[in-house]
Amino acid sequence: MTLKVGVIGAGSISESHLQSYASSKEAEIYAICDLNEQRAQDKAKKYHASQVYYDYNELLADENIEAVSICTWNNTHAEIAIAALHAGKHVLVEKPLCKTVEEALLVEQAVKQSGKVLQVGFVRRYATNTAIIKNFIDSNELGEIYYAKASCLRRLGNPGGWFADKERSGGGPLIDLGVHIIDVCWYLMGRPKVKSVSGNTYSKLGNRSNVQNLSFYKAADYDPSKNTVEDLANAVIRFENGASLLVDVSFTLHAKEDKVAVNLYGEKGGAELEPELNLITEKHNTILNAVPQTDSATFDFTQAFQNEIDHFIASVKGDKQTLSPVEDGVEIMKILCGIYESSEKGTEISLEEVKI
Ligand SMILES: NC(=O)c1ccc[n+]([C@@H]2O[C@H](COP(=O)([O-])OP(=O)(O)OC[C@H]3O[C@@H](n4cnc5c(N)ncnc54)[C@H](O)[C@@H]3O)[C@@H](O)[C@H]2O)c1
Repeated sequence: MTLKVGVIGAGSISESHLQSYASSKEAEIYAICDLNEQRAQDKAKKYHASQVYYDYNELLADENIEAVSICTWNNTHAEIAIAALHAGKHVLVEKPLCKTVEEALLVEQAVKQSGKVLQVGFVRRYATNTAIIKNFIDSNELGEIYYAKASCLRRLGNPGGWFADKERSGGGPLIDLGVHIIDVCWYLMGRPKVKSVSGNTYSKLGNRSNVQNLSFYKAADYDPSKNTVEDLANAVIRFENGASLLVDVSFTLHAKEDKVAVNLYGEKGGAELEPELNLITEKHNTILNAVPQTDSATFDFTQAFQNEIDHFIASVKGDKQTLSPVEDGVEIMKILCGIYESSEKGTEISLEEVKI
């Protein structure tokens, strides 16, 4: 039996969900919903969905639908996820899980009450390069990982639109880009309990819509005059086991070029996940840099998305456990909100102090 799926939010990222569902023999794209009627109709036509909705409550009332992907703005994730779970649907919700820790805990409660699967769209967890490194870590090849360092720096890349509207997004590069790299490090470090965070955010450069001769991705409702999110965030995250994670992310920065780097350092070896897979170790008093041989040495977005959707379908069918359950979404929200709070207060805060 194929799984009848509804996709709520028919903007940019819905395309990756829809392509992956369309490539799966186990799923049927049954319904599409968007506030923007044209967008919903276009996607429904392209992916042969039999139903089109403009109000997600109507989609959720459709008893034929067993699972939904939530691909809307961040401010609606919690509300739609909770309603979907109460309507008896399994849920794949895009990252971040939501905007606040309070919302995250309500989603977690709804998952427990409903007994349905909720998978958070931490797509990097499903990437082949992550799986390769995870295998080495699980076999203790790196020993205890005590330090990780992750950067995702755009020199010019504030997408504007809802991304630049704190009310709808919850923040800028930290909640949009930082969520991915913090999560993948935390996952590979073995999900240690977070002790404290110390963060800084800066809004020094604006969205730099004045810059000419360089193009960048712009949200559909881009408006150069609107921007209420930070340009840059950095943080150190301390864990109870003594490990630490250092992170910096930007929408814009006076950097020479864009940069993505994700590195993990253990007692027996190190791993570079991005920009390219590398394993570093020492054998017979000699340092070895080993390059795993794979079809893609870096993060393969399309493949990772297909893996994520396939894993969601298998989890709904009871064949697998999701790799990114709601509990992990809650922990990541505590870290992100903790960093914003630390930045506001100008001091390191223990995670118990995060406002809920
Ligand atoms: N996994 C990834 O790498 C990745 C990449 C990009 C975006 N995202 C996430 O996907 C989500 C959507 O981002 P996007 O870039 O596709 O944005 P988008 O603006 O292109 O699309 C969002 C769509 O949601 C619709 N929408 C908003 N509220 C709605 C509601 N209540 N009911 C129905 N439709 C509603 C909007 O009309 C819009 O068409 C965000 O949470 C974002 O963080 C994830």
